[in-house]
This record gives sequence, structure tokens and C-alpha cells, in this order.
Amino acid sequence: MTQIIDGKKLAQECNQRTAQEAQELKKKGVTPALAVLLVGENPASQVYVRNKEKACKKAGIESHLHRLPDTTSEKDLLDLIGTLNEDRSVHGILVQLPLPKHIDAMRVIEAIDPKKDVDGFHPINTGRHLSGLPCFTPCTPSGIMALIDSTGVDPAGKRACVVGRSNIVGKPVAIMLLARHATVTICHSKTPDLDKEVGRADIVVAAIGRPQFIQGSWIKKGAVVIDVGISRTESGLAGDVDFEEASKRALAITPVPGGVGPMTIAMLLKNTVEAARRTLARK
Ligand code: GUN
Repeated sequence: MTQIIDGKKLAQECNQRTAQEAQELKKKGVTPALAVLLVGENPASQVYVRNKEKACKKAGIESHLHRLPDTTSEKDLLDLIGTLNEDRSVHGILVQLPLPKHIDAMRVIEAIDPKKDVDGFHPINTGRHLSGLPCFTPCTPSGIMALIDSTGVDPAGKRACVVGRSNIVGKPVAIMLLARHATVTICHSKTPDLDKEVGRADIVVAAIGRPQFIQGSWIKKGAVVIDVGISRTESGLAGDVDFEEASKRALAITPVPGGVGPMTIAMLLKNTVEAARRTLARK
């Protein structure tokens, strides 16, 4: 029987632990707080931000939403980040991506205090991650590793194929799988014979953002399949993998929705509480 990996349930369990930690921090006088910066009206971003806010509230984390018009200048955004960096009541800062085209996203990310970079996107954190040093790691990749672990499959000695090379998912999850001793191949739009690359893998992470691009027949029998994609199609939400066919071959597979999404948020909450906990250690 193919295991349908229940990301919602796993996220709930994780959020319960996070909520407990948040409560313990409160008793010590620190209420974990996350500042979320949303620039413009991107519909998907609005949904993500709303879900993050709801999850914060449920876990006893304060969330401060800064809604900014899409005409906001880069300087104004950098100034706000500067203020939040100095604000001792704010422990995590998240700038929802994508940003409007006139704003240099990398410059904005670099302006965030790495100690408050709960997205794990600051080059200090990505560099530390690459070097195997303690740091904040990006939320979706951390969630993916927890989902893989929930199947009982140990990445050590396995072939993993990551399809997608973004800074948010593809690159960091490849580093995490490598750190867990998998043999990792990173594929992308210019990879030849993608079907064969995917077909060799014991673990497939699909993060390309094209609905049902990975065909079920490509999947090796007994593979673990993690589908990061979520696209709106005429027939509803769809992942990057043809779930119907892939689930006939996989040992375990994530559904869309209800797989990776809830775990991304769970990891954000965990990172925020961790950021708050570290301020206590510095006091
Ligand atoms: N846009 C899509 N995914 C993410 C994420 O994990 N963090 C932020 N800040 N923006 C995103």
C-alpha cells in the first residue's frame, strides 16, 4: 500500500511542540514575535501570509503584518527592515517573495539581521548552511526533510533527485539531503533525459512549479516522492507530479494540498520561537 504522507497531521504535531515552547518563553518574559512584510497584491502571497498569521496566532506567537503598496520604494522597505532589526520585541522578520520588479530582492534579504532571518535566506545563513554550521535553514526544505523522515526512509546511501534549483527550495534541500548522506542530483529545465534522472531516484523532490510535469511512469517503484509544486489549474490545485499515476508506483507520496505546505509554515513557527529563545540566551 502506498503511504500518502499526511503533512497536515505532521505539521499539527510540530506546531503543538512549538506552542509549548512559546508558552515556556512567555513565562520567562519573552513573547515570540514575527514581523511579516507583504509588498503589493500578489494573490498567492496574500493567501500564504494569511495562513502564516493564522498559524502564529494558534501557536501563541505574535505576528505583525506590514502591508505595503506595490509602489513602495526599495529605500522605504530597507528603512522598515532597519527599524525592525533594532526592535527588540521582534524576533523574526519575513519578507514575502516575490517582490515587485523595481525592488532588488537580494538587497532586501541582505538587509535583514541574520539573527532574525527566520526564512534562512540571508547569505550568512545560506553560507553557514553550506558549511554545516548552526543557522536558520529555509522552511520548505526543512519541512521536506521532516516529511521524508516521517516515512521511515533514511536518505543515507539513497539516490535523491531534486528537480528545481531555486534558492528557496531546490538548492537548500539538495544540501540537506547531501548532509544526510544521500547521493544527490539537481535537475532543472536544461537537464537532458529528465525522465531517466527521476527514474533512478529513491527520493524525488519536485519543485519546478509546472503542474503535473513529472509523469507517474518516470517514478521508480518504491520511491519516496515529495511534491512541492502548487499550481491553480482549471480542475483545481495541482502539484508538479502526476499524483494519480505516481502513487501507483511510490512507496510514499505527498498530496497537494496537504503535504509540503503545512510543514513550511510549521518550520517558520519553529524558527521564530528559536530566534526568540536565542535572545534569552544572549540576555
Ligand atoms: N515565497 C514563496 N515561498 C516563500 C517562503 O518560504 N518565504 C518567503 N518569504 N517568501 C516565499
